[in-house]
Amino acid sequence: MSETHDEKAPSEGMAGPTNNQDFGLVGKGAGFIPTGDANAMPEGGSQGKRDGRGRRFVVRTLVPLLVLAAILGGGYFWWSHLRPVQVTVNGTLQRVTVGTTIDQLKSDEGIQTAPGNYVSVSGNILAEGEGYPYSVIVNDKDMDYDEASAYKVSGGERISVGDGKDRMEPYTTETVNQPPRLLMDGNVGAINYISQWGATTVKDVLTGQESGEQADGTVYQQGQDCVITVKDVKPTGSQKLVALTFDDGPSRYTGQYLQILKDKGVKATFFCLGNEVDANPDGAKAIVDAGCQICSHSYDHPDLRTSDAQTVLDQLRSSFSSIEGATGVKTTAFRPPYGSFTQRTWLSTQGAATVAVRWDIDTEDWKQPGADQIVSNACADVHSGSIILMHDGGGNRDQDVEALPQIIDTLKSQGYTFVTIDELMASDSSIPKEVASGNYPMPADAVWPTELGDA
Ligand code: NI
Repeated sequence: MSETHDEKAPSEGMAGPTNNQDFGLVGKGAGFIPTGDANAMPEGGSQGKRDGRGRRFVVRTLVPLLVLAAILGGGYFWWSHLRPVQVTVNGTLQRVTVGTTIDQLKSDEGIQTAPGNYVSVSGNILAEGEGYPYSVIVNDKDMDYDEASAYKVSGGERISVGDGKDRMEPYTTETVNQPPRLLMDGNVGAINYISQWGATTVKDVLTGQESGEQADGTVYQQGQDCVITVKDVKPTGSQKLVALTFDDGPSRYTGQYLQILKDKGVKATFFCLGNEVDANPDGAKAIVDAGCQICSHSYDHPDLRTSDAQTVLDQLRSSFSSIEGATGVKTTAFRPPYGSFTQRTWLSTQGAATVAVRWDIDTEDWKQPGADQIVSNACADVHSGSIILMHDGGGNRDQDVEALPQIIDTLKSQGYTFVTIDELMASDSSIPKEVASGNYPMPADAVWPTELGDA
């Protein structure tokens, strides 16, 4: 049955679907092959039919597909490699082939560029003209040289080709913690105070492998130097303010001074020695009870400028502690003995003190020149913001006790108001409020400097 059917099958012009169906049956040897008959002829005939149908398949289906693929492939090649596109090069619209490189563009358009230099980490020239040959910006994006040299024009972009950038030598990187330095802002003035606390900078330091030079790299944490401002107090506006100050007490004269001040209705500031406060805590307490200001004058009056760092710190801390113990007043303000205090002495304080108060008017009362001379010395050169130096302890003060009422009367008659040092500082808007308070401990997040710097 199947044999007969197969022999009829190879007629030309059979309809596709039937053809396909038969082709399928033969291929599987349906109903015939399993018999294993050696005389079976139809097999060869079946092969012939397959070839004929395969040829038609190739001609009618595959060839057109291949032609189409060739056309599409060629089109794709043209589109991606040969298509002309427009780009703006250094401000001028240009027609170029897609995929053009920057090097080709430079050569085709005759763009001249000067190369950068080969430089050290700190920017010194190691070899002139041995930097990058050109620089490229595409649509406002600054490309590095590797990116630029591999760039291919895609069409529609804006390209700027310019002079080459410098190329840096190879370097090693180390992340370092840089402590703050201590700087002085100004060098003449009655008041020294911490106007800026220090903070550590964390940054990369680059070391050039060729030059050996070092330069800053990435900054991870921007620190700042500690700054001591030196200036005279300048009360704002037209107010006439003056501060009377008494050193080296408390002493047996303290009570007399306080009585005069009370009688005249004025306040003053007492820079006391820690050892005198310890010996006479009631005298220290009386100063505070009278509404006057108490500050440190060191513990036992050494020249701090020539003292070692630990002594400076001990003198400040122990005197602040004595004052607090006797009066309950916390202060970080002091007057250095002899006014002797330098940038290096500040470094030794570890932030224990925040304002050093000197004077601009010296009565020279310690010379005991006579009460009239002390009055004259006190009043002659006074101006608003003046700090007048007198003494409480350290010797006979009879002349001061005699001079004080006259000083107060004279300056009052000139329109002056007597204020304490913290009030005087508060009258100058350039002095931070914390400093003017007279008690400004170092903030927990501040870092004390370890070395000096130049402002
Ligand atoms: Ni003194």
